[in-house]
Amino acid sequence: MKNRFSCRYYLPKPIDKEIIEQIIDAARCSPSGNNMQPWEKVYCITGALKDTISREMVQAHEEAPEAYSAQYLYYPAGPIPAQYARRRFEFGKHYYTPLGIDHGDLKGRARVSTRQYEWFDGPVVFIFTINNGLTQGSWLDVGYFLQSINIAARARGLETVSQESTAKYQLILRKHLPIGDSEVVALGMTMGYPDLEKVAKFSAKQPKREVSDIIEFFGF
Ligand SMILES: Cc1cc2nc3c(=O)[nH]c(=O)nc-3n(C[C@H](O)[C@H](O)[C@H](O)COP(=O)(O)O)c2cc1C
Repeated sequence: MKNRFSCRYYLPKPIDKEIIEQIIDAARCSPSGNNMQPWEKVYCITGALKDTISREMVQAHEEAPEAYSAQYLYYPAGPIPAQYARRRFEFGKHYYTPLGIDHGDLKGRARVSTRQYEWFDGPVVFIFTINNGLTQGSWLDVGYFLQSINIAARARGLETVSQESTAKYQLILRKHLPIGDSEVVALGMTMGYPDLEKVAKFSAKQPKREVSDIIEFFGF
């Protein structure tokens, strides 16, 4: 866990289907409330279809982003509590500085944000959906499932980056995948073998809260 990071640089090396099945075989053992296992569907995409979806997403993102929206709010519509707003701002600094992009460089930031929709050149993409009849508890469960995927992937030399940003273009995903009307597109995730040279050159480790800032002990 202490070495993990969101990987945005990948080697052009495919992932064997059997390895992906092993990862899902591990993650399916994740806990969930009343064992409902609400990870409705995992769509796993590679090759030409991944590239077609990517091209359409990049085009939509560059030409008509306002025409698309996710089916849920990842962030509050209104103000974010101050400590979270501050960390979000700090994230931007750590993210853009190694890329030589200043806070005010909107063009540079836009170029980087397009990389999302190129799946950071990763070889495999996952789209996770949740049934629209379920509530926050099940979203917690899906979080366990997603983290299990991340851990099982790392055990096999693979890295991932979760991408809520792709949920916005769910209409494009629906054009190419059999996503049902009752499914909410919750998250995209890129997976692949990391290009560690580029990771070292172009990304900074995101700072984490200290243990003492997170936990309060009682009765010890
Ligand atoms: C649910 C979820 C959604 C995320 N969505 C995105 C995303 O859309 N694009 C992106 O580049 N990173 C995304 N991230 C990665 C975060 O930016 C990253 O986890 C955070 O900055 C901390 O960095 P680290 O994972 O390297 O420790 C997401 C992470 C999570 C858990």
